[in-house]
Amino acid sequence: MGNKLFTEILENAPANEPERQFYFIEQIKALLDVKKGEGYEAKAMVTVIGCQMSAKDGEKLQGILQEAGYSITEKEEEADVILFTTCTVRENANQKLYGRIGQLKHLYQRNKDLIIGITGCMMQEKDEVETIQRKYPYVHLIFGTHNIYKLAEYLLETMLSKEKKVELLEDSAEIVENLPSKRKYSFRAAVNISFGCNNFCTYCIVPYVRGREKSRDSQEILKECEALVADGVKEIMLLGQNVNSYGLDKKEECSFPELLAKIAKLPGLKRLRFMTPNPKDFSDELLQVMKENENICNHIHLPLQSGSTAILKRMNRHYSKESYMALVKKIREVLPDVSLTTDIIVGFPGETEEDFQDTMEVVAYSKFDSAFTFQYSKRTGTPAAKWEAVPEDVVKERFQRLLEHIRLHSEEREGRDLGKVMEVLVEEKDKESENMLTGRLSNNVLVHFEGGERLIGEIVPVRLDKSMGFYYYGSVL
Ligand code: 5AD
Ligand code: SF4
Repeated sequence: MGNKLFTEILENAPANEPERQFYFIEQIKALLDVKKGEGYEAKAMVTVIGCQMSAKDGEKLQGILQEAGYSITEKEEEADVILFTTCTVRENANQKLYGRIGQLKHLYQRNKDLIIGITGCMMQEKDEVETIQRKYPYVHLIFGTHNIYKLAEYLLETMLSKEKKVELLEDSAEIVENLPSKRKYSFRAAVNISFGCNNFCTYCIVPYVRGREKSRDSQEILKECEALVADGVKEIMLLGQNVNSYGLDKKEECSFPELLAKIAKLPGLKRLRFMTPNPKDFSDELLQVMKENENICNHIHLPLQSGSTAILKRMNRHYSKESYMALVKKIREVLPDVSLTTDIIVGFPGETEEDFQDTMEVVAYSKFDSAFTFQYSKRTGTPAAKWEAVPEDVVKERFQRLLEHIRLHSEEREGRDLGKVMEVLVEEKDKESENMLTGRLSNNVLVHFEGGERLIGEIVPVRLDKSMGFYYYGSVL
């Protein structure tokens, strides 16, 4: 803290959050206003690497930056501040960040006032932070998942002191509510319901980088959802590492199905989704709430990870091949039209051909609409990192077989809604062709159809004319 001005500003800062952050936001704004008078454009860019949780963090960063007077740009060469939210769930996510910051060196050489900052999951790993500090000295700001809300405070300090700021916390002391957030889409929003994870699956780094599970206050969640609907949001996605265990860390809190039912009943909310339930505690009550509430989307993402009971045990997943299949059966009985998607890891340490065949069997039985498949990636610090790896060529070969198998079995359910008229939430102009739009069915399947831009953000009836496998061509009625 080598700067006198910042020391003075700091002395007058409120101690409580979020007031403290709003104070720093105002300070940045005042500073930018002066500079803008001299022709400074104050542009910032936020790049998201990773999952919806990381994307939501990106929206929070953007919200703070905009509130402080920055306009958001997609062009890094015109940005004065470039921030990254990062992912470390698999090694290739880390490589993606290194690639991106390597490319920024030449921009920093041209503009020494450029502030490059990195936050998110990857920054909760000491080794990665050390590597960044050693190899990329032009990164000025490093903070983690537990203190994202403090962006304004850190940014102001970096701007005034021109010194590096690195602040990493082991866990979150509190959940800070009511800070700004900038939605990517006006009609769709993600809402955190809990942070962190207590499951400790043996392959997974998330509990180490996101900390222990903390549920948000249900009243705060409801207030946020209500405000979003009032602001024109049609679809809300509830986010948690394991949504089923929502509320278990707080005595007086409601359960996840109760929370879901309360939100579904908010007047004007057209669609409600959630991510991610864990098969180990997917309750009948949750299925009933889904069945009873028309606006809860017809889609369940149910990570399988492996179909082998022995592997699942060593993954610490707390369910078996049989119990997963029984759950799929029950889901299909209660919600026959539901679309089921999953995550599968191939090549977990010790996985035999027999174990792999169990996975193939569960895939054939479950007929997933789609599946995200991953080759096991060793994460330092997790229990599985110490176990003997499956040879790379074996993993690659199994991975290819699995992809083909998934494709084959998803085909059985593809096109099942052909000819029907269904509601589509229109998301954007089609990237490929003129005059075409892209939207999504309640079951998460994409539909392309002809239409004008004014339909973006609307829910419209579309006849599904042609099945293209995992998407449709349709015509708006
Ligand atoms: N290696 C490969 N895949 C992983 N996932 C999580 N950790 C690992 C890992 N170490 C996958 C899981 C999870 C998804 C988000 O990422 O399938 O559901
Ligand atoms: Fe999301 Fe996990 Fe990656 Fe973090 S490590 S960005 S929580 S997938």
